[in-house]
Amino acid sequence: MEVKFIEFDIKGDERGKLIALEQFKNIPFEIKRVYYIYNLKNNIPRGFHAHKNLQQVAICIRGGCKFLLDNGKEKVKDIILDSPNKGLFIDKMIWHEMYDFSEDCVLIVLASDYYDESDYIRDYEEFLKFQKGEE
Ligand code: TYD
Repeated sequence: MEVKFIEFDIKGDERGKLIALEQFKNIPFEIKRVYYIYNLKNNIPRGFHAHKNLQQVAICIRGGCKFLLDNGKEKVKDIILDSPNKGLFIDKMIWHEMYDFSEDCVLIVLASDYYDESDYIRDYEEFLKFQKGEE
């Protein structure tokens, strides 16, 4: 399974650094929602779901964490996200888990659609069944 990182250009000068995220430019979809998670506990993983249609890009703008991505056939564990200029593309129908958050971790996520609980698959067996049904 291919893990797709997006490297963002850093517009840096003597005053500091700046990164711009733009739909259809460095983000491969229309950005309809942005959310962020913080104050995370190192020992409490999150995620454990896939989306039927949603596409997302996750960026650790502070600190770091790890991701597991699973397409139903193959799992890639311990994907490190630890840089404000590195995005992880999470396609639809990819089971994902996040863990090993640093104390200062701030994870920002850009999403291709509004929040919709009916787009979530939160049961792993259901995810596998849905994945097979789609083929
Ligand atoms: P959840 O998807 O379980 O978080 P994670 O994937 O990080 O484990 O979401 C936690 C709660 O927040 C849940 O009650 C749904 C709510 N929520 C929203 O209201 N809007 C959003 O955009 C997101 C992502 C979650």
